[in-house]
Amino acid sequence: MKGPFAFFIHPLNINDLYRAISDLQNKSVEFIESVIKFIDPFVAVEMEIETMISEKVYGLFIVIPLLAKQFIDDEKLAMSKLIKASKLAIKFGAKIVGLGAFTSVVGKAGMSLVKTFGNTLYFTSGASYTIASSLEALNMTIEEKKLNKSDLVVSVIGATGAIGKSIVKLIHSDYKKLFAIARNKSRLNALKNEIKSDKIIITTDIQNACINSDIIITATSNPNEMIFPHYLKDQAIICDISMPHNTSKEVIEKRKDVTILEGGIIELPSEPKFKKLFNNLSWDDIIGYPKNNVLACMAETIILTAEEKYQNYSIGRNIDEKKIREIDSLAKKHGFAVKKRIFQNF
Ligand SMILES: NC(=O)c1ccc[n+]([C@@H]2O[C@H](COP(=O)([O-])OP(=O)(O)OC[C@H]3O[C@@H](n4cnc5c(N)ncnc54)[C@H](OP(=O)(O)O)[C@@H]3O)[C@@H](O)[C@H]2O)c1
Repeated sequence: MKGPFAFFIHPLNINDLYRAISDLQNKSVEFIESVIKFIDPFVAVEMEIETMISEKVYGLFIVIPLLAKQFIDDEKLAMSKLIKASKLAIKFGAKIVGLGAFTSVVGKAGMSLVKTFGNTLYFTSGASYTIASSLEALNMTIEEKKLNKSDLVVSVIGATGAIGKSIVKLIHSDYKKLFAIARNKSRLNALKNEIKSDKIIITTDIQNACINSDIIITATSNPNEMIFPHYLKDQAIICDISMPHNTSKEVIEKRKDVTILEGGIIELPSEPKFKKLFNNLSWDDIIGYPKNNVLACMAETIILTAEEKYQNYSIGRNIDEKKIREIDSLAKKHGFAVKKRIFQNF
């Protein structure tokens, strides 16, 4: 048995908490936020999974009790919980930790944890496989729709982040034009200077970029809705990688012409066996996906464990292109498959 790995998860929004603990349903968001601040990280899931080439991997999912918004509002508190959770992972013998959702957005995209734990524990944000798998799902959709990339305009929201920046680098030359969107102008200028392509237009104006785009990719650290029905061209394609998602519920309800893909969803090579599930909940209730599905960042952590590649893998905001290719080929070797999941609801 390889591992264990640990993977950090947290409730993305209040609905995740209401789903997991029904007694909370009559409590206000403010009350819940003020209480969960004081709860220490805990192990919610213990799972075993066999890959296609018969490597057995064991892992723990550790809950960081904070909502996505709380990671941004109080980074100091978030970091203190991440340090406690890392110590808990070490106690269980974990060798590598996957940083889910906002646990990799804070602390300089994992760099602070790497500095704190040195060689005692390794970390990955899972960004490499998230990038590879999201682009694969998007490419499948473009092929199905028989579209020609060189005729299409694409927007990347969160273009200066770990995921967004790599995506801009990898795809800009294939498309007619690419809007690179973020708030901080000096980081946008640095991106433009680094890539130096006439195809890239940097902007802070999301609405104007989206209305002129055939494809919108979003990977931001903003936990709020950012893409609304009136921002979208007819037949637009959205690939929403952000956790929580940035596409508004209204887009699903009102814009039936728009295709909304969930980036970075992976089908496991076999059915996982669960040794522990918090509160006797199902995997679906805890993670929000059917039993055989995981997020790409979780899959990356499982694959690295199957390979016993214990190292700091996708860390920081400059993701190595070689690692994106490497993890994609290791995923295929172990039977992990990209799932093209179209949003029905959130
Ligand atoms: N599906 C998966 O398996 C998976 C895996 C890893 C991460 N994720 C998710 O992917 C997202 C991005 O992660 P990351 O590590 O790339 O984050 P990151 O490095 O912190 O980058 C975030 C980007 O979002 C931009 N941004 C933040 N607020 C914005 C706003 N209001 N308007 C426009 N741009 C905004 C930031 O630039 P400015 O600050 O300049 O605006 C930056 O470019 C997160 O939601 C994370 O949870 C998903």
